[in-house]
Amino acid sequence: MGEVDPAFVQNVEHRPKLTANQAQGIPLIDLAALTGYSPSDGTVADSAVVEGLAAEIGEACKKWGFFAVVNHGVAAEKRERIWREAREFFGQGLEEKKKVRRGERNVSGYYETEHTKNVRDWKEVFDFTVQEPTLVPASHEDGEEGVIEWTNRWPEYPPGLREAFEEYAQEVEKLAYKLMGLIAQSLGLPASRFDEFFKDQTSFIRLNHYPPCPAPHLALGLGRHKDMGALTILAQDDVGGLEVKRKSDEEWVFVKPIPDAFVINVGDIIQVWSNETYESVEHRVTVNSEKERFSIPFFFNPSHYTMVQPQKELTDEHNPPKYRPYNWGKFLVTRKASNFKKLDVENLQIHHFRI
Ligand code: OGA
Ligand code: NI
Repeated sequence: MGEVDPAFVQNVEHRPKLTANQAQGIPLIDLAALTGYSPSDGTVADSAVVEGLAAEIGEACKKWGFFAVVNHGVAAEKRERIWREAREFFGQGLEEKKKVRRGERNVSGYYETEHTKNVRDWKEVFDFTVQEPTLVPASHEDGEEGVIEWTNRWPEYPPGLREAFEEYAQEVEKLAYKLMGLIAQSLGLPASRFDEFFKDQTSFIRLNHYPPCPAPHLALGLGRHKDMGALTILAQDDVGGLEVKRKSDEEWVFVKPIPDAFVINVGDIIQVWSNETYESVEHRVTVNSEKERFSIPFFFNPSHYTMVQPQKELTDEHNPPKYRPYNWGKFLVTRKASNFKKLDVENLQIHHFRI
């Protein structure tokens, strides 16, 4: 990417005021108390400590929709390995990378930029599904039944990418279940309340590469958006660029990179499940004129056949459901299809199901 093509020009309203905003950044939560415990092994941490953590996470979800976690249990060497492999992959020539280009129906693979509305993002991406294969509806049309499989496109080079990815995915998935458990508890639900929805999960991991941009004031690495899944667990390098829209004043706040931390955010599905007790929050990525940046989000998504709707325990006659149920698989493939075709139309959004 050399010159800034007009298709990249985004309206970057106000630049973040770094010093002020860093002091009031997203909450940082220490998960050390959970280390060594795993509900799937039948071991659980001290309940008072877990309640405390759940309350902290609940506060963060309400106030920000974003938080960072440390002592999360994902081994440092597994994180380092996936970083190394991602850098190797993106370091190749475009021709090599295009050999594993994504398709219209099977969306795993490489692509150069995403279109948010009608504007291009200054980045390149490689998507992998966490489950192999991942089942999704064959068509986004209502009434058209049938399921297809998404399978990953593994590049020949670097040869270790597949193993690094699989190890990393396993570890982050464990963290995702732990976080969903704490979020369930923070809503007054049993910790395992959401687990059933992820049985045939459609989660995917994205390797993001944001190259340096000669005109960073004109472009965004990733335009403002909300994440459509349940929960996002993001690893970012030390360059920084992620900004979150602060709920209290709608200012863009810089998310300071913290070594070894993950940035967690609530997606649209948690907004619906919690009947808007928690909200999915807008965020975006700015670009840098000198440094390239890498980030690796894990998008924790339910099984394709999940009907997403406010949880019964969280609604009553005074607080009726705010959304009609929608089919997650259809929602997902509709969004992927419109993104692939670069449609200049409003994307499918959860507000279309708002009552
Ligand atoms: C995303 C996203 C942030 C980042 O991929 O949805 O918000 O820092 N990424 O790359
Ligand atoms: Ni996002």
